[in-house]
Amino acid sequence: MAVLLFLFLVVFTKYTVSSFHPASSVSCSGTPQSSLPFCDSTLTPSERATDLVSRLSKDELVSQANARAGPIDRLGIKDYNWRSNCLHGWALSGGKWPEGISWTNFPMPLGLGASFNPSLVNKVAQVTSDEGRALHNIMLSQFDGSSTEAAGLNCFSPMINIFRDPRWGRGKETFSEDPYHISLMGVAYTKGLQEGEDPKYVKIAACAKHYAVHCGPGDIRNRFTANVSLHDLYDTFLPAFKSQAMAANVLQIMTALSGTRTVLNEDGAPDSANKYLIQTILREEFGMANVSVISDNGAVAQVDTVHHFVSNLTEAAAVCMNAGTDLDLYSVAYAQYLSKAIDNGTVSLDTVRAAVWRSFYLRILVGDFDPYESVTYQQIDASHLDTPANQKVNLESVRESIVLLKNVQDALPLDPSKNKKIAVIGPLANDTDDLLGNYVGIPSKIISVLNGLETYNSKHFNGSIEFEYAAGCMSVPCPNVTGFDEAVSLTDWADTVIAVMGLDDTLEGEGHDRKPTSCSEDYNPIDVLDLPGCQSHLIKRLSASKKNIILVLMNGGPLTIPDLYLSDSIVGILETFYGGSLAGTGIAEVLFGSYNPAGRMPVTTLLTSSDLRDSVDYRMSPSPGRTYRYFSGKTLFPFGYGLSYTQFEYSHLKLKSDTIKPCDGLSASVVVTNTGSRDGDEVVQAYLIPPQIKGITVPLQELVNFSRIHIKSGSEVSPTLAVSSYMLSLVDNNGDRYIYPGAYQLSVGGSSPGESVAIKTSENIVGSFTISGTKPVSVNDCGSGAPKCMACDKDSQ
Ligand SMILES: *[C@@H]1O[C@H](CO)[C@@H](O)[C@H](O)[C@H]1NC(C)=O
Ligand SMILES: *[C@@H]1O[C@H](CO)[C@@H](O)[C@H](O)[C@H]1NC(C)=O
Ligand SMILES: *[C@@H]1O[C@H](CO)[C@@H](O)[C@H](O)[C@H]1NC(C)=O
Ligand SMILES: *[C@@H]1O[C@H](CO)[C@@H](O)[C@H](O)[C@H]1NC(C)=O
Ligand SMILES: *[C@@H]1O[C@H](CO)[C@@H](O)[C@H](O)[C@H]1NC(C)=O
Ligand SMILES: *[C@@H]1O[C@H](CO)[C@@H](O)[C@H](O)[C@H]1NC(C)=O
Ligand SMILES: *[C@@H]1O[C@H](CO)[C@@H](O)[C@H](O)[C@H]1NC(C)=O
Ligand SMILES: *[C@@H]1O[C@H](CO)[C@@H](O)[C@H](O)[C@H]1NC(C)=O
Repeated sequence: MAVLLFLFLVVFTKYTVSSFHPASSVSCSGTPQSSLPFCDSTLTPSERATDLVSRLSKDELVSQANARAGPIDRLGIKDYNWRSNCLHGWALSGGKWPEGISWTNFPMPLGLGASFNPSLVNKVAQVTSDEGRALHNIMLSQFDGSSTEAAGLNCFSPMINIFRDPRWGRGKETFSEDPYHISLMGVAYTKGLQEGEDPKYVKIAACAKHYAVHCGPGDIRNRFTANVSLHDLYDTFLPAFKSQAMAANVLQIMTALSGTRTVLNEDGAPDSANKYLIQTILREEFGMANVSVISDNGAVAQVDTVHHFVSNLTEAAAVCMNAGTDLDLYSVAYAQYLSKAIDNGTVSLDTVRAAVWRSFYLRILVGDFDPYESVTYQQIDASHLDTPANQKVNLESVRESIVLLKNVQDALPLDPSKNKKIAVIGPLANDTDDLLGNYVGIPSKIISVLNGLETYNSKHFNGSIEFEYAAGCMSVPCPNVTGFDEAVSLTDWADTVIAVMGLDDTLEGEGHDRKPTSCSEDYNPIDVLDLPGCQSHLIKRLSASKKNIILVLMNGGPLTIPDLYLSDSIVGILETFYGGSLAGTGIAEVLFGSYNPAGRMPVTTLLTSSDLRDSVDYRMSPSPGRTYRYFSGKTLFPFGYGLSYTQFEYSHLKLKSDTIKPCDGLSASVVVTNTGSRDGDEVVQAYLIPPQIKGITVPLQELVNFSRIHIKSGSEVSPTLAVSSYMLSLVDNNGDRYIYPGAYQLSVGGSSPGESVAIKTSENIVGSFTISGTKPVSVNDCGSGAPKCMACDKDSQ
């Protein structure tokens, strides 16, 4: 009895859903604050923030300039920790979570990008926002109103940097290599996080990062300075941030660890100390006067200690605060040195007040200063975590992310009557860790490929298929051939081999990019863009059996594997990225055909690593150019590439008019017919091919519209492809956008039209049109109704 009672108490003193009691991290009911304007919810958020900062002493102001913002007890304000991530679902990082809770872990953003479906990405963010609120409320309830790490009302996503170099370790965290695609995806994510059912409050404040020019090299990211032309800055690196500002009203921006140098800021200031980027461009030009700006981890201190841009930490704190960085994520440089800089007179108290105003303004917008009873979102409890509806969105996102790269003689989907014995091989075949990606949450279950196949088998085929598994490699980097024999021995028995290969976080991750690897079997280093270590050797050994091999890839950075692509034994290839906790379920559905894949490559797959330039060279266009917009050579898989189990034909491309005025925008229609025997999605893509224009750098081709459309077998659809005047504009050498008169083409199809091994001759259909006039017209002169950013066209949202 005593033992039972003891157990009973233990169980009950642990967190349970029923112990949930809503709270707020600011107690506006106490005195004296209940009668003060900042607690008066009838005033505007701006008035309330202004009142609050006017009451704070210098030390109190400084205490709020850190991610770990301390309490101000005399005004009922508890701790607020700004450090939370939500890259692809709410992230666990640093949270002290109660036992027994779990939530949704979606595919990594690059996989979400491959869906080419912004409304899916919006749904993912809505689930994330809901679960983030639930986790926040659970933690407030546990910690008496203190907002702890990883449980705030803001989070550091979306990441919207351009995947410029396939070696970049963090490329898997962004949506693609294309500014328009990332603009749409990023806006969809931010709106999903911020906009909920209650129009009065922001649900979760998004944070677009890393502002402004940041995409490798990872290992020197905190001391590196990117030299960029104004053309590349405005053509490639800024559009997604501008869209966040103008189409999503993102509430926070995170500055990068690296620096940026242009002709207008030749000092090449680190991005957190970069007045040109933060003040001139972000706050003034993009109109984000009130956006909260937070430094990346340690970035403020590193302005001194790593970049040596200034000579001590007081100056580092001063230069970042004066540039407009409101919050120090690492909470050391501002916490310890900002006061000194204020005393010294290098930072004015008004500047700090303005910075802290922006932090409180955001916290008031998310409802942190209002009684929890009146904030709908404060009622969201643990019953919102990991619901069947959330899992459904997760599975949908796995399905939509998968790209079919190769399929000969209809090898896929696998026919269960001809594939009774399947060998499932590879270091990622039974993996339940790497497929989650980074910045992960706590999923209730993780489905490996092997597990997904077995479950599918018992559900659909009454267990009639036999699987045998061997890892083949001892680890994902696979430095030697230990384990090969066991794997190869299964091929005699098997009808078909499914080989699950790829990368992991040790090979491509935050702070480290892909490097050449080695294999004990091979004298030469293994190419940086190839499968790592001995993985390709294993596939070659498996090929000797002459059994059909299906290659399932898990990776972020694109894999340059022309030999495997061209190999006769490899009859099918799937790119699955890092598919999250339900990856195995979605992959099994695609392999056996209950889901017809339609994901598209969000990055160019080069044919050879000799087409790489030095990763510190940020120039986009010199040969070999970077990304599909500037790379003119032959690729393995072009940007936008992906197959289906059915076939689509494009016809009847009609431009509304052959000649348009500069501000008119273009409208075209096309007929897309599903000529195959299965229903399926097609990603209709439209690329602008501009003429050469004297004196400016012009992309070879540019995605200007896309949409993922479900088309039944034998049916046709005729989407209207609207291209806004903004999307017709080109960036000049000063970074300004003009619409240039001249002869243009619009290439429409299921992929970008570049030359590749996978598509022998582009099947896109091409229409020609002329933009009339004698001189370029600025996008700013197209009238107030014309879109002012890539995602600003209402139709695109
Ligand atoms: C910033 O906030 C102030 C005060 O609410 C407001 O007047 C101003 O319009 C805002 N600026 C922008 C760009 O949102
Ligand atoms: C960038 O430009 C600066 C100044 O011209 C130069 O010292 C530096 O080496 C350049 N960096 C790179 C990566 O090219
Ligand atoms: C920081 O450096 C400046 C000179 O650049 C000097 O005046 C100041 O005293 C230094 N501060 C500290 C705390 O060392
Ligand atoms: C403040 O710092 C500057 C350099 O950053 C230095 O020249 C000046 O002497 C300092 N002033 C005071 C009052 O400490
Ligand atoms: C697959 O991995 C799980 C754990 O992640 C393990 O329990 C299981 O035994 C493995 N399956 C095989 C066939 O090795
Ligand atoms: C499934 O298999 C079991 C035995 O393996 C058999 O008894 C049963 O009839 C099968 N069910 C169907 C629907 O084929
Ligand atoms: C082979 O590589 C694995 C790591 O993948 C390592 O643990 C093992 O010791 C290596 N074996 C030999 C014989 O070097
Ligand atoms: C892109 O095309 C679709 C039709 O496929 C259309 O509905 C949408 O409005 C277009 N997007 C933009 C931004 O024009």
